[in-house]
Amino acid sequence: MTTFGTPLSPHATKVMLLGSGELGKEVLIALQRLGVETIAVDRYEHAPGQQVAHHARTITMSDPAQLKALVEKEKPHLVVPEIEAIATPMLEELEAAGTVRVIPTARAARLTMDREGIRRLAAETLGLPTSPYVFCDSLAELQAAIDSKIGYPCIIKPVMSSSGKGQSKIAGSADVKAAWDYAMAGGRVSHGRVIVEGFIDFDYEITQLTVRALGADGKVETHFCDPIGHIQASGDYIESWQPHPMREAALQKSRDIARAVTDNLGGQGIFGVELFVKGDDVWFSEVSPRPHDTGMVTMCTQWQNQFELHARAILGLPVNTALKSPGASAVIYGGVDATGIVFDGVAEALRVPNTDIRLFGKPESFVKRRMGVALAFDADVEAARVNAKLAASKVRPHAA
Ligand SMILES: Nc1ncnc2c1ncn2[C@@H]1O[C@H](COP(=O)(O)OP(=O)(O)OP(=O)(O)O)[C@@H](O)[C@H]1O
Ligand SMILES: [Mg+2]
Repeated sequence: MTTFGTPLSPHATKVMLLGSGELGKEVLIALQRLGVETIAVDRYEHAPGQQVAHHARTITMSDPAQLKALVEKEKPHLVVPEIEAIATPMLEELEAAGTVRVIPTARAARLTMDREGIRRLAAETLGLPTSPYVFCDSLAELQAAIDSKIGYPCIIKPVMSSSGKGQSKIAGSADVKAAWDYAMAGGRVSHGRVIVEGFIDFDYEITQLTVRALGADGKVETHFCDPIGHIQASGDYIESWQPHPMREAALQKSRDIARAVTDNLGGQGIFGVELFVKGDDVWFSEVSPRPHDTGMVTMCTQWQNQFELHARAILGLPVNTALKSPGASAVIYGGVDATGIVFDGVAEALRVPNTDIRLFGKPESFVKRRMGVALAFDADVEAARVNAKLAASKVRPHAA
C-alpha cells in the first residue's frame, strides 16, 4: 500500500479483522491511528474489537458462504485473521481470485488453522526439531501410537483447539481413555482427531515474535523482537515477560527456526513462534501468523508494540522492534460466570509503580476467561513480574 485514504470516504484504505477479541482490538486501534477504515468481524456482538472499529459485523466465520458474502460486500483491501476457526479454503479462493489480500497469506492461515498442517510443515517439510508426534483418529490408534512410538509422559491435544482446551498430560496407560474423551469434548469443530506428543522436559519456553515487513527496496525483511518468556497453566498463558535471558546459541537457534517457518509461510505481518528450550537445544512447538497472547507484554516494553508492528507491516510500512524497557504482563481472569460484570480495585492496581492495565470489555465473563491484563515495566524483569502479578491481583471482577 503506497497511498493512504481517508476513512469513510470513497478512497478509504479498508482493513477487515476476522476475529475481534483483545488482540484484534489493539490491532484495530493501531490501524485507526493510521487513518485506516476498519471492519471488525466476530461471531458475537459487542466483541472487544467491534467496540473500537468503524464497522461491526457479526457472522459465523467458519461458514464459507457467509465469509464470502461479507468480503464481497465490504470490499476491504486486506483481510486480517485474528483467530484460527475461519473457513480458510474460502480465503484461499478469494485470494486466488484477486478479490482480497489475506494476511500474511491465505495459505499460512490454512496451514496454521489446526495443529496438523503446521506440524507436518515444520517437522516433515522443513526438518525442524519438534516433539515426537502421531495423529490419531480413535482411542485404539492413540493407544497404539503411545505404545509403539511416543511413550509416557505424553500430551494429547485435539487437532483443532487453542488455549489448552481439551489438552492433557498423562503419565501412564490408565489415563489414556480419559485424555481421549477430554480431547473429544474440548476440541473446536471436533473431527475426532488428536495429536499425541512426547513430553519435552524444557528448561523454559519462549515466544519469538518475528516480523516480515517491507524494506526501502520493496523486498520483505525479517525483524526479531526480544524473546518473551511465559508461564502456561493447563495450556493457557497466565504470565509473560520480556526479555527472557537466553544463551547466545539457544537464541540463534530460536531465530533460525523462526526464520525458516516464517520464510515458508510468507507474506507480511507479525508471527508468534512458540519454542521450547533446554540448554542449547530448541524445539519448534507452533506458530501464530498474527500477534500472540503472550506478546501483550510488548504494550509496555517496546517502542512499537506487537499490534503496531503488525499494522505497519501489513500496510507496507517500516517497523522498529527495539525494546524500550524490560517488563511483564499478568492475566486478569473473570473469576465468575456472568454477563456485564464490574471491576473493583482498578485504582489500587494502578498505584503499583510503573503499571498499566487493559480491560478488554468482553460482554460475558467466565471463571477462566481472560478479561484483562496487567502490565509493568522495570529495569529488572523479575521486579516487573512481581508488580504485574500484584497489579493483576488488585483487580476484582464480580457480578454486577
Ligand atoms: N510436547 C510438549 N511438551 C511439553 N510441554 C508441552 C508440549 N506441548 C504443549 N506443552 C505445554 O502446553 C502449552 C500449550 O500447548 P500448545 O501451545 O500446543 O496449545 P494451544 O492450545 O495451542 O495453546 P495456545 O493457543 O494458548 O498457544 C505449551 O505452551 C507448553 O507449555
Ligand atoms: Mg501455544
